[in-house]
Amino acid sequence: MSTWANLGLQDSASPLMEQLIFFHDHALLILVMITVLVGYLMFMLFFNSYINRFLLHGQLIEMIWTILPAIILLFIAMPSLRLLYLLDEINEPSVTLKSIGHQWYWSYEYSDFNDIEFDSYMIPTNELANDGFRLLDVDNRVVLPMNSQIRILVTAADVIHSWTIPALGVKVDGTPGRLNQTNFFINRPGLFYGQCSEICGANHSFMPIVIESVPVNSFIKWISKNVNS
Ligand code: CUA
Repeated sequence: MSTWANLGLQDSASPLMEQLIFFHDHALLILVMITVLVGYLMFMLFFNSYINRFLLHGQLIEMIWTILPAIILLFIAMPSLRLLYLLDEINEPSVTLKSIGHQWYWSYEYSDFNDIEFDSYMIPTNELANDGFRLLDVDNRVVLPMNSQIRILVTAADVIHSWTIPALGVKVDGTPGRLNQTNFFINRPGLFYGQCSEICGANHSFMPIVIESVPVNSFIKWISKNVNS
């Protein structure tokens, strides 16, 4: 999760988020190179006194500074498209989780396992444990197996919400009357925090998401415990 003074991206917990971070760094590097070059040229303009009264056109330089930026943009567009299609790929998921946005909480359904379903509310600050995270912890966490392909279906019951978990590279809108799909693969155990990211009303800031990533055995135990109750 994000803590104080963390201005960058969170540590990734999935291969797709790792790729997104690589792409971010790649794009930023190109951006820095362009900024430095253009900044240097603009700065140097103040200190030269070149004058040419007969300079009216320059076909060659116009050609170069039109085509060169187009080629540079291709170096961003190609990896971007690769990522876009990679994020959309579904690879035989072993678990499907359905999450429904409400004003203002999330509810979850594990339709693979005899319809396990529950609501997940934020824990209010006055009820928070000493080691709890304010505005981030919930009463019922989403337990998911690590090292497994997981499909997530997102929808909403009232207005548009967005199921967003930065460490997993997941951000899907929940829209009333529609069912959106994406998938992810958690490659380590731990707690991964997220928040709704569509402005959905007065308590938009207070419908966080907590994913509890556990080994497959523990997940099966958790499932069997909840099926019986
Ligand atoms: Cu739900 Cu913002």
